[in-house]
Amino acid sequence: MNVKNLHVSKDAGELSRQVADWLVEYIQEVLVLRNRFTIALSGGNTPKKLYQLLASDTYKDRINWKRLHIFWGDERDVPFTDERNNAKMAFEALLSHVPVPASQVHPIQTDTDPGLSAETYDQLLHDYFDRQLYSFDLVLLGLGDNAHTLSLFPGYDEVLFEKEDWAKAFYLDEQHMHRITLTAPVVNSAGRVAFLVTGSDKTSALQHVLSGEYNPALYPAQLIAPANGELYWFLDTNAASGLK
Ligand code: 6PG
Repeated sequence: MNVKNLHVSKDAGELSRQVADWLVEYIQEVLVLRNRFTIALSGGNTPKKLYQLLASDTYKDRINWKRLHIFWGDERDVPFTDERNNAKMAFEALLSHVPVPASQVHPIQTDTDPGLSAETYDQLLHDYFDRQLYSFDLVLLGLGDNAHTLSLFPGYDEVLFEKEDWAKAFYLDEQHMHRITLTAPVVNSAGRVAFLVTGSDKTSALQHVLSGEYNPALYPAQLIAPANGELYWFLDTNAASGLK
């Protein structure tokens, strides 16, 4: 996979500052041309430092929060009060501290049937992005140590290779829970997609995704290849240690 925009930071703290600066600049660039900036937040632990940084005095006033529209890349089908809930983490780290209008914040519902939640989310995405040049202005992604991203896990080909729906729900056996996730088509229609990957536990997965054979059934993050948008990789030295 030829990688154009790959940035390596010394550690997670430097990576978070680098992404925060990059994001502020991109938001300002988009808002000169459009009246809104749409972003799909990643779940998991990696982006938490970034979210906290964006809510800090150093960055908070450099973003026009009233023109941001917030989505999530995926959600664990657990109550909002559950520590594993991705929206809960984002609210605690960022959204409870910045003035994004509530009507512009779109958590994936976890208080209803997961299939219905995915259908509702799919419709919301079409309401936002049909007849637009591209989908999200930005999708933030993490990488699992098994090369999953979003909730696109190895072994769930029906979700991995979905071509029509933009959101899907399925039961993730290994975590004994349903997941609701964006699918590759809507992410690959985004203006920009950025992976944030830190830690030596991701070294092998990253090496497979970036330098290994193309086999998205085994390495689902390889499905992410924006058709017209730009793909960015923000890594720390530990995660990047296996790359040539
Ligand atoms: C999730 C995420 C998932 C995450 C990776 C990496 O809901 O878990 O969407 O794809 O980005 O599992 O997670 P960490 O950042 O915690 O390593």
